[in-house]
Amino acid sequence: MNSQDYFSDRALGMKRSVIRELLKLTANPGIISFAGGLPAPATFPVDFVEAAVDHVIEEEHETALQYGPTEGDVRLREDLATIMRIDGIKTSKDHILVTTASQQGLDLVAKIFFNPGDTCITGSPTYLGGLQAFNSYQGVSIGVELDDDGMIPEKLQKTIQRLEGEGRRPKFIYIIPDFQNPAGVTIPESRRKEILEIAQKGEYLIVEDTPYRQLRYSGENQSTFQSMAPDIVLSLYTFSKIMLPGFRLGWACGPDWVIDKMIMAKQAVDLCTPPFNQAITHAMLVNGALEKGLENTIKLYSKKRTIMLESLKTEFADMPEVKWTKPEGGLFLWLTLPENQNTDDLFQKAVDEKVAYVPGSAFFPDNDNFQSMRLNFSYASEEQIVEGVKRLARVVRENN
Ligand SMILES: Cc1ncc(COP(=O)(O)O)c(C=O)c1O
Repeated sequence: MNSQDYFSDRALGMKRSVIRELLKLTANPGIISFAGGLPAPATFPVDFVEAAVDHVIEEEHETALQYGPTEGDVRLREDLATIMRIDGIKTSKDHILVTTASQQGLDLVAKIFFNPGDTCITGSPTYLGGLQAFNSYQGVSIGVELDDDGMIPEKLQKTIQRLEGEGRRPKFIYIIPDFQNPAGVTIPESRRKEILEIAQKGEYLIVEDTPYRQLRYSGENQSTFQSMAPDIVLSLYTFSKIMLPGFRLGWACGPDWVIDKMIMAKQAVDLCTPPFNQAITHAMLVNGALEKGLENTIKLYSKKRTIMLESLKTEFADMPEVKWTKPEGGLFLWLTLPENQNTDDLFQKAVDEKVAYVPGSAFFPDNDNFQSMRLNFSYASEEQIVEGVKRLARVVRENN
């Protein structure tokens, strides 16, 4: 029996991520990991969860333990609309779909838009899970270079022109505007407007993925694409980084023609996001869990970010060719080594020294880049950050 004969072309195109395999190494005891994208467990609002679970079991078990509507719990969708309105987005529950976190949002987007070989535009680098979702529906991600202000509009324009010229019109533009994963960069408002102008002129849909938006430690909020152009923007949000990832709860907000199709696609996947988790989350939001939790999370991560930036400055003082981004929020920064270094090759040496990162090559959709690495600063303790950066600098120095 040849198992390959059984699979669809779509399944045959799915690859086990080499990086995710590598990252298993980082779970070894003693390793300081800057690799994953995990929130710090200290930020989980355990007391709020406990009170909400008690309430839901006592008062709402008949609905919370039952199937629910695919669109999501109507009370929760009202809550989500309120969260978005506070952020300057004029929307209502009718334009919101509750998803099994934003990874499902990405999967549904890929499912409803791609025929095999269809293209979309992404940042280069961009979120690995986005690339995996697009690839699993045989979509082809075409990367557009970023700088310290995110996706470069001129490069976006050129890439679109090239694709149009080849008869490969992109189905959408995938952007992570705030504290991008992996680069940590944020697109300033003026540049958002330029990107929007390009999208509006060509009638391209923008998929705005913004899981870190509420985690800002310095600088000013920049308007969301959703608030500027609700007709052509689908936004994906999640509670994973701002409250807890274990509920697998997120939401999509956008034009009705997109949301309607996503609802149909979701019905075939899981019928509905667990109503129990939705009911608990609603009860937590009513009790102010999000605002109270965010206040502490921002304080904690802001301090860790500062410690990582200061440690990098100290430890790499003798290597001025090493550069890194200075994120105003989120969980990650992006470190770039001199050209003679290869962060794929360096990875094993770093693990031997008991420090781990994600090699940058994982995040590039269509070109090779081995000079960079992603560093997470939310998970390790403050002491570990100081020690981990010291180890990392030693590995880089010895390899130079
Ligand atoms: C940019 C981006 N999008 C989506 C996700 C998926 O998050 P979740 O499915 O937990 O909402 C992540 C997780 O790290 C991410 O960084």
